[in-house]
Amino acid sequence: MKRLGILLSGRGSNFVAIADSIAAGRLDAEIAVVISNRADAPGITAARERGLKVALLPSRGIEREKYDALLAAELDQAGVDLICLAGYMRLLSASFIQRYPLRILNIHPSLLPAFPGLDVQQKAIDHGVKVSGCTVHFVDEGLDSGPIVKQAAVPVLDDDTAESLAARILKEEHRIYSEAIALVLSGKYRIEGRRVLSVAS
Ligand code: GRF
Repeated sequence: MKRLGILLSGRGSNFVAIADSIAAGRLDAEIAVVISNRADAPGITAARERGLKVALLPSRGIEREKYDALLAAELDQAGVDLICLAGYMRLLSASFIQRYPLRILNIHPSLLPAFPGLDVQQKAIDHGVKVSGCTVHFVDEGLDSGPIVKQAAVPVLDDDTAESLAARILKEEHRIYSEAIALVLSGKYRIEGRRVLSVAS
C-alpha cells in the first residue's frame, strides 16, 4: 500500500478529507505520518484522534535548509511515497523539492496560474473574476507553479465575501485532492511539457 506524508500548519480540513476518502475506500493508500510546523494546529488534534502517527517540528528560529533536512528525515523514516501539502504555510527549500521529484503535491484555492500566493479568494473577488476554484499541482521550485494534476471551478457570486467563496472552493478542494492523489499513486499519467495527461492502464 502506498504511503502518504501529510504536511500541515492549521485547520487540516484537506487532511481530514483525505483520511475520510481512505476510510471510505475511495483512495487506496495509508497515511504514514502527519507533520506540522505548528504545535497548535487543529489538524494535529484531528490526526491524533484518528490514531495516526504525528510529528511536530516547530520551525521558529531554525534555518530553512536545516529545517527541511529534519522534515526529510521524518518523511524518509516513515517510508513515504507521496508528500501532500495540506495548508502547509512554509516555503520549501530547493534542495527539499529536488529530493522528491514529482512526489510532492499541493492544493491551492484558485484556478492557477491566476492568483498564486496568499489571500487568493479576496484577490479573486477584487479582480472581478466570475469563476474561481482550486488546483492540485506538483510542487516545483516556483510559487504555486508546478504541473497541474486537477482543477475544479466554482462561480463567484455578486454577494460573495472571501469567506463565502472560500467555503464554496473548499468543498471542491476536499473532492479533487483525493482524486489527484489517486491518479498520481496509480502512476497512470505522463507529463508532456507542463501538461499532466492521463494514460490508459
Ligand atoms: C486550503 O484552502 C488550501 O487550498 C490552502 O490552504 C487551505 C488549507 O485549509 N493551501 P485546511 O487546513 O486544509 O483546512
